[in-house]
Amino acid sequence: MKIISLFFSLFMCHALVLAQETIITVSQDQEAPVISKHIYGHFAEHLGRSIYDGFYVGDTSAIPNKDGVRKDIIKALKEIQIPNLRWPGGCFADTYQWKDGIGPQEDRPTMVNAWWGGVTEDNSFGTHNFLNLCEELGAEPFISANVGSGTVQDFMDWVQYTNHPEGSPMAKLRKENGREEPWNVKYWGIGNEMWGCGGNMTVEYYTNIYKQYATFMGSGGNEDELYRIAAGATGDDYHWTEVLMRDVPKSLIEAVGLHHYAVIDWEEKGPATGYDEEIYFKSMKEALKMDEFVRKHIEVMEKYDPEKEVDLVVDEWGGWYDVEEGTNPGFLYQQNTMRDAMIAGATLNIFNNHSERVKMANIAQTVNVLQAVVLTEGEKMILTPTYHVFKMYTVHHDAQLLPVKFDSPEYMFEGESLPAISVSASKDEAGNTNISLVNIDAKKEHKVQFDLAGLDVKNIEGQILRSDKIQDHNTFDDPDNINITEFKDFELSDGNLEVSLPPFSVVVLSSK
Ligand code: AHR
Repeated sequence: MKIISLFFSLFMCHALVLAQETIITVSQDQEAPVISKHIYGHFAEHLGRSIYDGFYVGDTSAIPNKDGVRKDIIKALKEIQIPNLRWPGGCFADTYQWKDGIGPQEDRPTMVNAWWGGVTEDNSFGTHNFLNLCEELGAEPFISANVGSGTVQDFMDWVQYTNHPEGSPMAKLRKENGREEPWNVKYWGIGNEMWGCGGNMTVEYYTNIYKQYATFMGSGGNEDELYRIAAGATGDDYHWTEVLMRDVPKSLIEAVGLHHYAVIDWEEKGPATGYDEEIYFKSMKEALKMDEFVRKHIEVMEKYDPEKEVDLVVDEWGGWYDVEEGTNPGFLYQQNTMRDAMIAGATLNIFNNHSERVKMANIAQTVNVLQAVVLTEGEKMILTPTYHVFKMYTVHHDAQLLPVKFDSPEYMFEGESLPAISVSASKDEAGNTNISLVNIDAKKEHKVQFDLAGLDVKNIEGQILRSDKIQDHNTFDDPDNINITEFKDFELSDGNLEVSLPPFSVVVLSSK
């Protein structure tokens, strides 16, 4: 009798352990979408120290530069294979007069950067600087153009200036300014946040304006080469997407935008580094809302566009906190910790898993602003935890999505819970399987078991980004405090892969 009850207890214990382990099925589906590399896009606004004293130090600077742009930043961005760069805003875009930023430097008028600190913009970084930088980076330019305070004519002229080969007044002007060949800019944002800084418009009003701009911008005979992105909703404003999808003819639109920032409270955003677990949990809760927003905006789009002709572009996303003490509140300069790595890893997994409709995204922002991948101080530059996540995830660029199915264990905090684990997977052209996993749980390790049957995975290599404290970050004195290291805490046998994910870590596993 005793032996039977011992067996029974052992059986129950084993069952309990198995029940606790999360099983993740990864399958191959020929119909699954390709994860557009443009999901890994970036954003550089004329804001604070993003362009000036960030990317651009000027060609007389002692800091090594190429035509005024820091060489260390160029190198860092090439290493993460930056696919596109959005510019010049943001809110700044709807105040920007592009013609003030071309021609001889000494003749360029100045303006007040009304949205960001009221500082003087001297227009020394303009269209040529930006488009040449994109060429140097091997990134597609994404110009977000002025609708709020601009004119249709200015917009048409800008498109012709950048794209018209010759014979037009704008092509002539470009050549006079030293650039013979057009840059052929494909991606154009038609305004930015038109419900707010772009002009406080209703979507019904903007929709008409959108159609007007979209009609005339391609009048140089090159409209087939343009990818027009309508300024989209923020968060859960599904009505915005609904009206655009319903009222704009498909011949005039290639994508609808969406913005969502992980902000715990717009009045009290909390510190970028000295936060506690309560703030961390709230930030993660806000960040994970991206999944619901993306899903529901896609549902609206499906209603009007089941053929998926119009894409969803999340052209601003990231964590937004209080500025660092002693810095200009209008400059949005914040440090970047393991919390930001969690936001980046989980958000990019969301985009990958919705890549049937999400074709582009832009983290806000690249250098020295909000959830930056690069921070600079004088001649020093550091790579943030967010940068390292982008580096680890390059394996997903243009790879075919492998759909995943699982029920996440919970990350509990004071009676509330969030899904602890997020996963996405893809198969690249060489046939390698790549899996990215994030455990946002601030306290607990989670074990997961993958069913990879049918994927022919024999050998796996792993990388991890982790640290001892969620608040950990890189500093100018300790730039390598957080870096990618080798990950070995997994076991592969017969298509089964068991992985132990440490608390608040990002892991990428790749078959070789
Ligand atoms: O990224 C900072 C600002 O956030 C952008 O200028 C604006 O579009 C958004 O509100």
